[in-house]
Amino acid sequence: MNCVAGWCKSEAGEAVTIRPSILYFGTPVVLITTMNPDRTVNISPMSSAWALGDRVVLGCTASGQGIENLRREKECALNFPSPELWRNVERIARATGRRDVPAEKAAIGYEYVADKFALAGITQAPSETITTPRIAECPLQFEAELVEARPSNGSDGQPGFYIAETRVKRVHAHREIVVDGTNHVDPARWEPLLYVFRHYFGTGADLGKTFKAEC
Ligand SMILES: Cc1cc2nc3c(=O)[nH]c(=O)nc-3n(C[C@H](O)[C@H](O)[C@H](O)COP(=O)(O)O)c2cc1C
Repeated sequence: MNCVAGWCKSEAGEAVTIRPSILYFGTPVVLITTMNPDRTVNISPMSSAWALGDRVVLGCTASGQGIENLRREKECALNFPSPELWRNVERIARATGRRDVPAEKAAIGYEYVADKFALAGITQAPSETITTPRIAECPLQFEAELVEARPSNGSDGQPGFYIAETRVKRVHAHREIVVDGTNHVDPARWEPLLYVFRHYFGTGADLGKTFKAEC
């Protein structure tokens, strides 16, 4: 720290201790589609997701309709929007597919919405290995089955959220983001929508590739 006449300036790279209210350091937005009990389709926007092998692991608050549907139906579609779709995502940010909106959500403006496709202005595409439809406008869509949903309890002993492990059964990609004649997604043409400390971002220019890159 440099201090001159009472003004202190941090050196670049110097770390300060902070206590942020959330830890969303920047992960892609996923629109999870699931089947409601009345066989309509719900969309749950989320961003706590990571992939390894054929698995995608999701962090879902226990109070959402999406996790309830996923635990009951044991399947979902994971739809990855591009940055141009951020306003469509934000249109359903305050929506829940749960008729009895939890009090803590109602207090910050959440409302029950039966048809999130209409509200978001997006359309369904039928899946091939699961009943749950995909979202046609998302350039990348995974059909998945639930392997396990592990509850993570809050301080009251009730599940605060679930860590849901899913297995991807089929991958669909818009032709424009696939390297012609291959199974590879072209990282120069596919851009995920990132959720970074509650702001939406696209990704910047390609900085380079790792030694395992296939294209
Ligand atoms: C961009 C974005 C990212 C979100 N990330 C998550 C997340 O990772 N996990 C989660 O449980 N909720 C997340 N939420 C909040 C859920 O979308 C919210 O709980 C919503 O009510 C879920 O819908 P549902 O109740 O119909 O399932 C996110 C919301 C937005 C808009």
